[in-house]
Amino acid sequence: MTLTPWWRDAVVYEVYVRSFADSDGNGEGDLQGIRSRLGYLRDLGVDALWLTPFYTSPLADGGYDVADYRDVDPRFGTLRDFDALVADVHAHGLRLIVDIVPNHSSDRHPWFREALAAPPGSPARSRYIFRPGKPGERPGEERPPNDWPSAFGGPAWTRTDDGEWYLHLYAREQPDFNWRNPEVRSEFEEILRFWLDRGVDGFRIDVAAGLFKDASFRDLGGQDRRASDGPIYSRPEVHDVYRRWRRILDEYDGDRMAIGEVWTDGPEDLALYLRPDELHQVFQFDLQLASWSATQFRDVATAAMKAVAPTGAAPTWVLSSHDSIRHVTRYERPESVPGIGYARAKAALLMLLALPGSAYLYQGEELGLPEVLDLPDEARQDPIWERTNRRLAGRDGCRVPLPWAGTAEPYGFSPDGVRPWLPMPRDWASRTAEAQASDPSSMLAFYREALALRRRMANDLPDDLEWLDSPETAVFFRRGPLTCALNCGENPVRLPPGTPLLTSTPLYGDLLPGNTGCLLESGPTAA
Ligand code: GLC
Repeated sequence: MTLTPWWRDAVVYEVYVRSFADSDGNGEGDLQGIRSRLGYLRDLGVDALWLTPFYTSPLADGGYDVADYRDVDPRFGTLRDFDALVADVHAHGLRLIVDIVPNHSSDRHPWFREALAAPPGSPARSRYIFRPGKPGERPGEERPPNDWPSAFGGPAWTRTDDGEWYLHLYAREQPDFNWRNPEVRSEFEEILRFWLDRGVDGFRIDVAAGLFKDASFRDLGGQDRRASDGPIYSRPEVHDVYRRWRRILDEYDGDRMAIGEVWTDGPEDLALYLRPDELHQVFQFDLQLASWSATQFRDVATAAMKAVAPTGAAPTWVLSSHDSIRHVTRYERPESVPGIGYARAKAALLMLLALPGSAYLYQGEELGLPEVLDLPDEARQDPIWERTNRRLAGRDGCRVPLPWAGTAEPYGFSPDGVRPWLPMPRDWASRTAEAQASDPSSMLAFYREALALRRRMANDLPDDLEWLDSPETAVFFRRGPLTCALNCGENPVRLPPGTPLLTSTPLYGDLLPGNTGCLLESGPTAA
C-alpha cells in the first residue's frame, strides 16, 4: 500500500473564524467556539480545517491586516486557546491549516508605525514600499508613483504626512512588505516556525503571488492587474521564498503542507508554484468561476487537471469561499427560479467530491446558506464597500455568522441576547445546524452522506478520470468504481451505467432529472 499524504485528497473545511461560533458573547466567533464545534465537523466528515486569520488585528480587512503575527487577537482568544484547539483538532482525527499573510501587514504593525515615524530612506521604511510621488497636472499637485489600482478600489498608494507614498495592493490599512529586504524574509521564516512548533499541519498563503513587485514599478498601462507578465503579481523572485519555506516545512515531521492563493492568468504560471521543491498545492478557482453549464464544468475541470498534471500535484477544487458570492445564490442566476440554486448546489457537491484531488468547502455551504443580499448599509464592514464609494457591496454577504440552533438571531451563534457582528436573516430558523441534523432530507444530511461515501471509496479511486459520452447538457465521468453524472439542463437525461449510490434529487427510473447530480457504482459494462 502506498501512503498518500493526507492533503492530496483531503476535504478541507474553511472556518471564517469571526463568523463560526462565539463562545464569549462579544458577537464575534472565537477559538473556543471552534473547539466546542469540533464534534460537528468530525461528524460532517471533513479531514481538515483551514482557519482564516485570528491574529492580533484591527480588522480593517477582517483580520487579513495583521498587527502581530505571533499572537491571537483578544476578540478571538489567547495563545493558550490556540494550543488547546490544536490538541482537540488532532484528538478528533482532523488536521489544522492556518492562514499566513505575507504580502502586507496591518498599518498598526509595530514595523509600520516605526516606518512612518522614520525619515524617507531609513532602514525602517525599507521594510515596506515607500516611493516619492510624481508631479501632477497643476503646480504643487502630486500623483501616486504609478498607476496601480488597489484590488479593493481606488489607487494602491497612499501619501504620508512627509510626502512619501506607500504601496498597498489592498486597503490603505494593509501596507505591502518589501520582500527584497532580507529582514522581511527571515521574519516570516520565524513566523512559520512559531506556528509549526505549535503543531499546525499547514498554511494557506494569502496573496501568494504578490510578494515581489517588478523592481521598475512600471505603470500597468491598461494591462490586467493580475497578468502574470505584468509588474504586480507572479514575479519570478517569489519562487525562491517558497523554496525556502518548503525546506522549513520538510524539517518538521507529519506531512506539513502549504497551499497558495495564487491567481494567475495561465496554467503554466500556476504549475511553477507546484515544482517539487515549492508549494504542495495551489487553489484552483476554475469551478468557482464557472457558471452552471456542463460544457464549462467539463472544460474547466479538464484544464485544471492539465495545469497540475506535469507537476505531480493533485488538483484542488472550490465552489465558495469568504471572498465570493455563495454558490447557492450564484447558481440562481440568471434564471432566479425559486429553489434552483439550492438544487444545483446539492448536485454540484457530488461533482466536487468525485473529482480527483482535494476539495475546499466553505463554512455554511453544508447548511445550504445563500448569500445575504440585504444587509443594511451601516452594517457592512468589507473595505470594498467604502473604497468603491459604495458601488460594490463587497463580501459581507457570505460572512454572516453561522446559524447553529433556535428560531431567531443569534441562532446559537452567540449566547442569547447578544447581537452578532453582522445581522442574521429572520428566515434562517429552518437552516440551523440543529434543525437540519434531525432532517434526513436536509442539505446537512446530504453533505454528511456524500462525505461518508467519498471517504469509504477513497482508497479505490484512481488519480485520474475518464470522461464518458453524455448528452450536451450533462457531464459524466468515471474514476474506477465510481461514476459521477451531473445534469445541468432542465430536461431529464438517461443515466450512465452503474448502480446509483447517492442522488441529489430522486431519479425517475434510469432518468436523471434536470439540475441533479448522481454518484453511481460503476458497473462492468461502463468500462
Ligand atoms: C485574500 C483573502 C482576502 C483578503 C485579501 C487581502 O484574497 O482571501 O479575504 O481580503 O487576500 O489580504
